Amino acid sequence: MPTISISNVRKAFGDVQALDGISFEVNSGEVFGLLGHNGAGKTTTVRLLNGVLFPSHGQARVLGLDPTTDGPALRRRTGVLTETPSLDERLTARDNLLIYADLYDVPPSKLGRRVDEMLEQFELTDRADDKVGAYSKGMKQRLALARALLHRPEILFLDEPTAGLDPVVARQVHDLITRLSRREGRTVLLCTHNLVEAQQLCDRVAVLEHGRLVALGAPDELARGLVHRLPVEFEVAPDETAAALAALQTLDTNALARRDGRLTAQLDRDAIPVTVEVLLQAGVHIYRVNPQQPTLEDVYFTLHRKENGV
Ligand SMILES: Nc1ncnc2c1ncn2[C@@H]1O[C@H](COP(=O)(O)OP(=O)(O)OP(=O)(O)O)[C@@H](O)[C@H]1O
Ligand SMILES: [Mg+2]
Repeated sequence: MPTISISNVRKAFGDVQALDGISFEVNSGEVFGLLGHNGAGKTTTVRLLNGVLFPSHGQARVLGLDPTTDGPALRRRTGVLTETPSLDERLTARDNLLIYADLYDVPPSKLGRRVDEMLEQFELTDRADDKVGAYSKGMKQRLALARALLHRPEILFLDEPTAGLDPVVARQVHDLITRLSRREGRTVLLCTHNLVEAQQLCDRVAVLEHGRLVALGAPDELARGLVHRLPVEFEVAPDETAAALAALQTLDTNALARRDGRLTAQLDRDAIPVTVEVLLQAGVHIYRVNPQQPTLEDVYFTLHRKENGV
């Protein structure tokens, strides 16, 4: 049975159709990414799955529970990092965690140790007794992540977990997500605008566009299926750069000279041999032809162009 399933869910806010009939399933232990432009419906999906919002149509199941009727029971088993976490700024980090742990039934005998562990893990021990109002944005984000993990949830919903984090802490959060899923078998649903992050972490991604699901699958699978034009790098003799560029510009390739001897062109895989032929006929000596692997970013822009007719 999938850990999360959402079936033909619609959600309207007045005239705004935030979700327009989306369906997908997330398997146990999977890191599942939700991608899409601002206002695509990612946060709305997370809120529906936690029973904070109710769908206008369709249904969802999370850990076998119905979020519309079993919200409180469900939220004991899920950890949520919201877009704008509400921390009590008048309290210290430690007190924020203690209050939350108490709300979520962490046994009193384990409370102190669990809070210390979380503070340690997110490198907040030194500042644990400072008021949160005096924290930097990234420190607040780390505290909010610590809070989401405090009660050892089976599923984590992380809405842009690395927004505002410095690169070192962002990498620690990536490692943490990988560890939670790979070693501990926990399920992670991750909303992100960071496509490199999504490619690195996610087993599968769903791309939302104006409340509709426009792609679903493993990043590599989507790249193979959707991206046909690849950036291809050419290395030629440096004094033949201009001749190579002129030859490539006779084809439909958006060719660019990067620097002496290095050029790139956008090409269908099938067009690579004939392009090499054109360069040879122009008297260019080719030392290297290197088609780049399409990335999730290429997938995203291919979908964006398709959906927006550009
Ligand atoms: N409480 C609300 N009241 C009215 N409209 C809402 C509400 N919540 C969301 N919306 C609308 O629903 C749509 C989807 O919003 P949502 O927050 O789910 O987008 P998102 O994909 O999370 O975007 P972002 O990347 O900016 O976080 C938007 O048009 C938004 O204005
Ligand atoms: Mg959002």
